[in-house]
Parts: sequence; structure tokens; C-alpha cells
Amino acid sequence: MLAIIGGTGLTTMAGLDVIKRHSAETPLGAASAGVVHGTLHGRDILFLARHGHPHKLPPHRINYRANLWALKQAGATRAVGVNVVGGIDPSLAPGRLVVPDQVIDYTVGRECTYFDGRFKPLKHIDFSWPYTASLRAELLNAGKKASEALEDGGVYGCTQGPRLETAAEIARMAMDGCRMVGMTGMPEASLARELAIDYACLALVVNPAAGVAEGEVNLADIEAVIAAGIGRIQRVIEAMLD
Ligand code: HPA
Repeated sequence: MLAIIGGTGLTTMAGLDVIKRHSAETPLGAASAGVVHGTLHGRDILFLARHGHPHKLPPHRINYRANLWALKQAGATRAVGVNVVGGIDPSLAPGRLVVPDQVIDYTVGRECTYFDGRFKPLKHIDFSWPYTASLRAELLNAGKKASEALEDGGVYGCTQGPRLETAAEIARMAMDGCRMVGMTGMPEASLARELAIDYACLALVVNPAAGVAEGEVNLADIEAVIAAGIGRIQRVIEAMLD
């Protein structure tokens, strides 16, 4: 079953006919919210509000382990993480939708594995290709069906937040090869891999990252870009189910 992990701006799924609301409790503590199982256009789908609903957990305090566990428990075999990002590559202007193909993890101190020697014995996983190729392809195909131009590929740099980055940090990330920056892509992607859940990211660019455009990052503008982008994201997700 396909799961959608909704990020900032996507705390509920429009048009979802709810079948069941799962408890948020897991052996790893509470997930951000209960997983909602419903149908969209007659197809089963799971939805989880990453930052909680109606609560607003900051990126570094999200219990990613509980979130992915809750999705697995609810029957998720595939998950699309929806994330808002800043554009580091100047061609990624606000409003662009991107399906990244790589990740660099700049976060610190997040509980990032089930195989920590306490919850589960130590185990290493391969993470060369952090996103599942077939699910990325499905997303890109859904973009075509929905007539939404999706940018194919790019490195997602995941920072700790909740503050935005300095211009120097973004310049360094650009040298590292990052095309976009967000705060919630990791450890979500690697935890999905640990649980053998196919995973891909659908990113909405909401601002030029620090120092990419003149002046400071305008947080009021971000709200407007998110509001305008949510409907487009919803259409891509619906096209995935057709
Ligand atoms: N930096 C980090 N995370 C973000 C940004 C940004 O500029 N925009 C949206 N999420």
C-alpha cells in the first residue's frame, strides 16, 4: 500500500475517504500523528502528517523512527515523502517540483536507526541509492499524467534546522553538489530502507536558499508558494493512483 508522508502545508489529504485512524503509539514512542488509512479515487492509501496534526513538531524533534514504524504497521510497502525545500541550484525557482535522486545528511543527533544495538542488533544497510528507482519513475510518470513538470534528479541536502542556513553554509552545500536544501528528508529515507519500504521524495521548492538570491530569505513569500503548490502535489499523488 502507498503511504504519503505530508510535510509543511500538507497536514491532511483532500478527498480522502477515511476508513481507519491508527493509534500513534509504537514501540519507539509516539509517531507525529496516527496514520490515516483511507481511499482516494477508490484506491487505498495511507497518510501521515510528518509534523503532526494539529501540532507542529520542529524537524529535529520529529520521531522519525516511530513515524516509519507506524506506517509499516499500518501496511505501507511504499512511501512518498513530500518536503518543502530551498533551491540551491538557481534553476530551481520557487514553485518547482523536484524528485531528488541523492541525499547528503548534514543533521546531528537525530535517532536515525532501528539497528542501534538496543532496539535491534547492529546491522548495516546499503544506502548507495537512497531513493527507490521504481517509485521515482512512478512519480515522474504521474507528473506527466497530471501535466505537472517534475524536475528529475538532484542532491537533497538535509540540514538540522529549525533555523535556516547561512549563505556560507549554502555555498558549501553547492560545492558538495546539493541542488536543494530541506530539514526533514533524513533520517526518514534511511529508516524506510531499514524497514524495506520503497521510498521516494517529492520536493516543492519554496524559496531560493540563503545567499542564492539578493537579500534575506522571505518567510512570508514561502507561505504563498506552499499554498499555491499543495494542489499541484495533490494532483501528482492522485495521478500515481490512477
Ligand atoms: N533551508 C532549509 N529548509 C528549507 C528551506 C531552506 O531554505 N526552505 C524550505 N525548507
